[in-house]
Amino acid sequence: MEGGSRILSSVVSSQVEVHSRYGGVVPELASRMHIEAISAVVGQALRDANIKADDITGVAATKGPGLIGALLVGFSYAKAFAYARKIPFAGVNHLEAHIYSLFLSKRRPELPFTVLVVSGGHTNIYYVDSPDRFELMGQTRDDAAGEAFDKVAKMMDLGYPGGPLIEKIAAGQPCDTIQFPRTMLEKGSFDFSFSGLKSAVGRHLHDNPVQSQNDKGKIAASFQQAVIDVLAAKLIQAARHKRCRTICVAGGVSANTSFVDHLSKNAEQYGMMCHSPPAELCGDNAAMVAARGHVMIENRQLCSLDDDVFSRGLKNT
Ligand code: KG4
Ligand code: ZN
Repeated sequence: MEGGSRILSSVVSSQVEVHSRYGGVVPELASRMHIEAISAVVGQALRDANIKADDITGVAATKGPGLIGALLVGFSYAKAFAYARKIPFAGVNHLEAHIYSLFLSKRRPELPFTVLVVSGGHTNIYYVDSPDRFELMGQTRDDAAGEAFDKVAKMMDLGYPGGPLIEKIAAGQPCDTIQFPRTMLEKGSFDFSFSGLKSAVGRHLHDNPVQSQNDKGKIAASFQQAVIDVLAAKLIQAARHKRCRTICVAGGVSANTSFVDHLSKNAEQYGMMCHSPPAELCGDNAAMVAARGHVMIENRQLCSLDDDVFSRGLKNT
């Protein structure tokens, strides 16, 4: 059941240091580093949990969407691990796993809820009324919100990943110095578009070369607020449309405290409860994949040996 998972260990092996040298994720390097890391990470997770490989009774790995080479490493490893031990294996949808990170919080959201999964690759709104049903209500038509953070950070030579760096330099700065656009699209749509905002920041930087770190902070704060306003407005609209009293946010961008604070305040105005994952489970992690996989294994939604990963779209098991 969605409320029944407890984390015994959670090991995250970050590749940020290597990718940041290139200003973003290099897919080929990501796959190679996954191969190098996977056995050690699994070994560490078993040691931290104080269990042996043979104590494991089920295995889950991300099936997609994501970078195909990196997915293949984890998926093949997990498949072989399960096959060798004759234990069930679940292929988990990356975005459903982010939603399950919410159930690993001490304060778990009650169903039904409306959730925004917002990361480097996705900006999706779902209505969730059962632990197994995720109705897609809206998604980005171009850049994901996290991608916009990363690209704007790159334009300002801040480094990678951009989200935490933008949040850091925006802290304490006024967020209304520059009026960047808030693209809401047509009435009634819960879709997003961030490419116009990204271009507007590019034009602003071109027309007003930054003189100081303070200038960068002001641009970062105005940009961040433009993203936050759109994300919060759409999520609340979607929840109101479904007459839903609980809103949630998950995925890398939900680590942004200005965003979560803004969302919580707005939710309060509408009499809604707002939930976000524990800080350490906002970004990609195996605990959320295990939480989703656990429920799939209980429901016998299992993968067969010839199942494969997928890079894009919403395809499920
Ligand atoms: O969920 P995630 O770890 O990986 C994907 O599935 O993409 O999300 C990574 C994204 C990156 O774009 C990163 O810049 C963004 O989440 N992010 C943030 C923050 N921390 C990470 N964006 C805004 N503010 C943050 N504090
Ligand atoms: Zn993710």
